Amino acid sequence: MRILFVASEAYPLAKTGGLADVCGALPIALNAFGHDARVLMPAYPETLAKATEVTELADLGRPLGMSPARLLKARSPDGGLNLFLLDCPPLFDRAGGPYGDSTGKDWPDNPLRFGLLGQTAARLVLDDRLADWRADILHGHDWQAGLAFAYLHAWNMRRPATVFTIHNIAYQGMFDVGWVMRLELPWSLFSIEGIEYYGSLSFLKAGCHYADRLTTVSPTYAREIQSAPQGCGLEGLLAKRSADLTGILNGADYGVWNPATDPLLSQRFAASEMKGKAKARTALEAELGLAPDPDQPILCVVSRLNAHKGMDLVLAALPDRLEKGARFVLLGTGDAEFETGFRRLADRFPDRAKVTIGYSETLAHRILAGADILLMPSRAEPCGLTQMYAYRYGVVPLVGRVGGLADSVAEPGEGERSGFLVDPVAAESLDAALDRALRLFADRPAWRTLVKRNARLDFGWERAAHSYDALYSQLLRQRGRTP
Ligand code: ADP
Ligand code: GLC
Repeated sequence: MRILFVASEAYPLAKTGGLADVCGALPIALNAFGHDARVLMPAYPETLAKATEVTELADLGRPLGMSPARLLKARSPDGGLNLFLLDCPPLFDRAGGPYGDSTGKDWPDNPLRFGLLGQTAARLVLDDRLADWRADILHGHDWQAGLAFAYLHAWNMRRPATVFTIHNIAYQGMFDVGWVMRLELPWSLFSIEGIEYYGSLSFLKAGCHYADRLTTVSPTYAREIQSAPQGCGLEGLLAKRSADLTGILNGADYGVWNPATDPLLSQRFAASEMKGKAKARTALEAELGLAPDPDQPILCVVSRLNAHKGMDLVLAALPDRLEKGARFVLLGTGDAEFETGFRRLADRFPDRAKVTIGYSETLAHRILAGADILLMPSRAEPCGLTQMYAYRYGVVPLVGRVGGLADSVAEPGEGERSGFLVDPVAAESLDAALDRALRLFADRPAWRTLVKRNARLDFGWERAAHSYDALYSQLLRQRGRTP
């Protein structure tokens, strides 16, 4: 099958979170089954700097009244991923991130930027002249790809089968109704049975409404989003489309997240071999200036900093634990109140808490290599990837019992995948989970057994790729095309 992924980020070409990890790894896992999956994404400056074999495929003219745009063909740095890049410098050639400037403020023309991404995806799957490659399946990811499905519906041509994956329903891409005309969408689509959400244009709803099949990134989240509050207002539509909605748990890319081969570590180790882990811990202490203390665990956070991720709970729970000797390292960016809160915490406990506000692939890997307990008490978590990576790096996850966290972590004794569950996600249960974690950490042989067992868990992408493969095949059969 030829599958076109449409997304706003894919590792290593551009990344702000787990969406990139999925869009960088799942196509490769699908290709291992003999498929031909490729990714269409914007040509951001960092993407053009990293991509290889970049050539022009087609002149896209002046879409949506923009200055000239081009479709490029390229490959990821290691050649493993085939890419189509949407090159439109006035929209994408900017200093800052994929969604906003360096202060984190969203680009005001995001509807145009990602509207054009969706429109280009629809053109690419319909028009042979753009590329000598015709997709059997268009698979869009998150709101940034949502309008692809609306254009395909509006143009009413013989189109490929379509799948839309919701990675996070809290981000819906809602914009003023004036964008409907500006994006050359027919007015008839702007209704409750279409792209309208309470008077605004919703990119996410377009995907949820017009795609043949919907998926999300864990079975539990697939259930949660069919009711309030986790459905964030789209629960009605999703419950109605329940038969078309599947939850498929994401995987971990062990090509990138394996402490035995990780090029970003100064101390590599096999996850089952605890001496190596101890050295990685010492290396992290030295790098950050954290007080060494073999009897006390290092708690860690590598995350976007917001209330969805339960960062207020972490901030409230830590002072007491740090007073009692625990240590803490954090890497993250996000809401100003949390950035400030964690900075203050680090000021208060200068040799026990180290806080890095920023984005660093290297430090993310090194923290997992050196830490002992990952704090991820999310209130909502579609899947979550860091907890899966943590297992391989000898870090035990302590997570909220929601979404994909509930599907990938169980209390010791409850199942083979082990960590600590915060349930319900609130201050008291976080405290209780921390108590259980610290008690087990103090029992060194029991902790070692847990860490070693976790290190053997296999969350590789093969299982998820299998499920997508089955879903695509079934969809094509239903549409009367043999996969
Ligand atoms: P989400 O996509 O909701 O942010 P996930 O757990 O699915 O959560 O994925 C987060 C990904 O982003 C992981 O690969 C994690 O290592 C990475 N990440 C998060 N914050 C940072 C940061 N500040 N620096 C580097 N990597 C980060
Ligand atoms: C989103 C979700 C996260 C998930 C990731 C990849 O960013 O917040 O839970 O792991 O997408 O699907």
